[in-house]
Amino acid sequence: MRAHEAGALHGDLGSRGPGWLRTPDDVNSLLPQLWPRTVTRADAGALTVGGRDVRDLAAEYGTPAYLLDEEDLRARCRDFRAAFAGQDVYYAGKAFLCRAVVRIIAEEGLHLDVCTGGELAVALSAGMPPERIGFHGNNKSVAELTRALDAGVGRIIVDSFDEIDRLTALARDRQVRPKVLVRVTVGVEAHTHEFIATAHEDQKFGFSLAGGAAFEAAARILDEGVLELRGLHSHIGSQIFDASGFEVSARRVLALQAQIRDARGVELPELDLGGGFGIAYTTQDDPAPAHDLAKRMNKIVDSECEALRLAVPHLSVEPGRAIVGPAVFTLYQVGTVKDVDGIRSYVSVDGGMSDNIRTALYDASYSATLASRASAAPPVLARVVGKHCESGDIVVKDEFLPADVQPGDLLAVPGTGAYCRSMASNYNHVPRPPVIAVRDGAARVIVRRETEDDLLALDVG
Ligand code: LLP
Repeated sequence: MRAHEAGALHGDLGSRGPGWLRTPDDVNSLLPQLWPRTVTRADAGALTVGGRDVRDLAAEYGTPAYLLDEEDLRARCRDFRAAFAGQDVYYAGKAFLCRAVVRIIAEEGLHLDVCTGGELAVALSAGMPPERIGFHGNNKSVAELTRALDAGVGRIIVDSFDEIDRLTALARDRQVRPKVLVRVTVGVEAHTHEFIATAHEDQKFGFSLAGGAAFEAAARILDEGVLELRGLHSHIGSQIFDASGFEVSARRVLALQAQIRDARGVELPELDLGGGFGIAYTTQDDPAPAHDLAKRMNKIVDSECEALRLAVPHLSVEPGRAIVGPAVFTLYQVGTVKDVDGIRSYVSVDGGMSDNIRTALYDASYSATLASRASAAPPVLARVVGKHCESGDIVVKDEFLPADVQPGDLLAVPGTGAYCRSMASNYNHVPRPPVIAVRDGAARVIVRRETEDDLLALDVG
């Protein structure tokens, strides 16, 4: 790779503009907030995770592969549990779900949020205690609701009047009394560093607070008396760094809680403030630790309840990304390196948008590092791209990599635990990579690599 002088940047630097990417002092350094906690550079500068050298893992399991630092994942579960002590932490399985992860989060004392029959099936097949499962979704089918009732899931988060009617009929038939939360659209939308507290009711999820539908939903459930209304639920967005959005949403949802109390004489005992806690994808991201968020959220709930003379409800949260995102990095092998003069180097790896669609879909920013060795070569501006037949097949839009990156090198992209494997596709008939959990020097496959036979298995004729 020829050096496009670091610092003298040309071309499009993506959504964050040219200012954010700084020439690194040392391309080999590992910024702690980007990497799972057991990752180090050891022998000859190669990365190790859970005590295993990535070169050995690549030789044994192939690339691309998602490498899960099990110790890191467990530590994040514990951090959240400790931060929300005495409250419930639902891991949002949409971020990444497989049986091994279900077992890990169950062992660590977390609850689990599922949002489809498929996720529910994985959870149940791994032995997740059903009473610790919360079932989400804006269009749960009769079959899905039936399965949830038969399994005895702990909470169903109802999302529409149709669902209330459907669930009420099913519960009546079965003579059961499922515990439900009403999902409220509070008019707050938060993403990354910003939140907007008006006019974000134009979306498919939940019952509108401002329009009165949320109150009506609660009233209908109370009137019917078939479902057990435990509380209200609000989820305001994802990759949130600023707790103010949670504060506004807690305030609004508690005001509804007080309205229900005043109108119906019922104090709902629970409150779920959803997920969305941000993680670091690049050196620019500086997420707050779980206990800081917990402190702020609890403080606002306590003071609002005091002002409204409400008993403080039992709180729950639903982090997905913040639990599993930073615990995983993707290991790729470099196949080609192409200099596009005066712009940047294109480093092609053996995966791409099929194992990480987030860059193409959300214009997400990621980082990368040379994983199979350290390098003393100068940093050059590079773009890490995949092997798909599409020019938008970008994994990392902009990163400084050593100028001597070459075919055969291993590259690692951190922060890929959430919404990468779970949103992976078979575009171009590329088999989806495995997930390998590494801990205390031992590696195990928790999701195997797809094969060509898997790809052909669905073809009929
Ligand atoms: N609770 C509810 C009701 C949710 O809808 C979500 C995410 C979560 C919890 C977990 O949010 P988290 O803590 O993971 O941010 N595919 C997108 C993210 C979609 C999130 C959908 N709902 C991405 O790759 O960024």
